[in-house]
Amino acid sequence: MDLETVTAEITQVLITKEQIETRIQELAKEIDAHYDSKDVLLVGVLKGAVMFMADLSRAVQSRVQMDWMAVSSYGSGTTSSGVVRILKDLDTDVLGKDVLIVEDIIDSGLTLSWLVANLEARGAASVEVVALLRKPDAAKVDVDVRWVGFDIPNEFVVGYGLDYNERYRTLPGVAVLSPSVYS
Ligand code: PRP
Repeated sequence: MDLETVTAEITQVLITKEQIETRIQELAKEIDAHYDSKDVLLVGVLKGAVMFMADLSRAVQSRVQMDWMAVSSYGSGTTSSGVVRILKDLDTDVLGKDVLIVEDIIDSGLTLSWLVANLEARGAASVEVVALLRKPDAAKVDVDVRWVGFDIPNEFVVGYGLDYNERYRTLPGVAVLSPSVYS
């Protein structure tokens, strides 16, 4: 699927495929410098982070392992409550490991805030976060995020892993969904 095929369903392309590729290379260099040849456990948050994880994990030179969590926030409709249920847990014991959470988007920050606390409580040696997108205007809690790809406006975005009703995840860039699709 490319962006041209859904022009009627989007109002604006916010970030192109090329911009994402360039930014991932920059993030990867900073991540490599930070971990300085230490082993890193990348924890991807399903499903939105799949594309970002696939590209970032191959851009870093650090020795990485990959694992995944799926979580669901209790709450009404699209509103995150901060109470999180684990749908799929890690296969890996994080005790003593340097963990890097790989997220697609930080909206309210509630999911991530819970996740960082959860992994720290399991005894990880360190827990850092890299998020491709962040909506500063939507933040309800402050989360210490070491690496952010792009700060974006508080709009409903899809593509590059992000969905609306499980659609649009395979778009190559990040685009604003037209309200006509969801209203
Ligand atoms: C999205 C996103 C984050 C979370 C961010 O996941 O991937 O995990 O919401 O929201 P918050 O900052 O307000 O807590 P979603 O529940 O849509 O699941 P998905 O990745 O499977 O689409």
